Amino acid sequence: MSTIKEVAVESQFDTVVAAYEQSMEAMPFREHVEAHSFLRAVGDVTGQSVLDLGCGSGLYARRLRAAGATRVVGMDESTAMVDYARQREEREGLGVEFLAANAADPAAGALPGISGVFDVVTAVYVLPYASTLTALQGFCATARRALRRRGGRFVAAVLNPGFSTDPDWYRRYGMELSAQQPSSEGAPGHLKAWVGHEVLDVDFFCWSAAAHEHALRAAGFGRIAWIRPQVSEQGRKAYGDAFWTNYLDCPHALLLHAQAGPRAELASPIPQ
Ligand SMILES: C[S@@+](CC[C@H](N)C(=O)[O-])C[C@H]1O[C@@H](n2cnc3c(N)ncnc32)[C@H](O)[C@@H]1O
Repeated sequence: MSTIKEVAVESQFDTVVAAYEQSMEAMPFREHVEAHSFLRAVGDVTGQSVLDLGCGSGLYARRLRAAGATRVVGMDESTAMVDYARQREEREGLGVEFLAANAADPAAGALPGISGVFDVVTAVYVLPYASTLTALQGFCATARRALRRRGGRFVAAVLNPGFSTDPDWYRRYGMELSAQQPSSEGAPGHLKAWVGHEVLDVDFFCWSAAAHEHALRAAGFGRIAWIRPQVSEQGRKAYGDAFWTNYLDCPHALLLHAQAGPRAELASPIPQ
């Protein structure tokens, strides 16, 4: 992929690389609910090629490669995230490729080495950073363009449109979510997360289930399924069922699984 002109931007994630990397261990819900549920939804990747949009520090890209994917590419617009992921790759030599690109621009899905070659595209906590419906559709269009013609799947962890704004709801999981009008399309929201000694402050945008589904369909996806996260057996044993009650009653994120259908007319944006 050395011929690809990379595009990276200044991002709110540039300064939180270490905290993100640490968060999988420091926040038990990430491993026991998120990773458990996301990897289940992705299924067996043995012999498959995977593109991880908004890969961040490369956590899931490395895991999917270790799980047997033959080719894994992580794409992120944050230079700091991609630099970190590449440095780790240099040290560990897992064979994961990383690319700096804006995944909300459908052109990212048409890049050589990316277009039409993947069996699975993933995106964990990336769609909530679409600030417009066009960007939301752009992420989906990139995913669709990167997938093979038939049978390709897109698995994303997105913000639950009905997440709780009760400041105490997710506190025991190390998070607090807020938004002025979470039910209005594109409303800005804020995530505060406590990761070890660091406090992570991240701005996101709220999108309804209908907006997600519209963006997916407009990009050429069908058979869309919403999946509620579950807790792993290990997580239940380690923390007890009561610990997970709030999260499972109203999780902050849901999984979306979509099947690539025929390519849609990507030029037409969804109505704003
Ligand atoms: C909340 S982090 C999640 C990182 C990783 N998926 C994980 O689960 O650990 C969101 C990531 O999405 C990336 N991102 C946000 N908007 C993006 C865009 N338009 N194109 C590519 N990456 C983007 C950010 O730079 C950040 O690394």
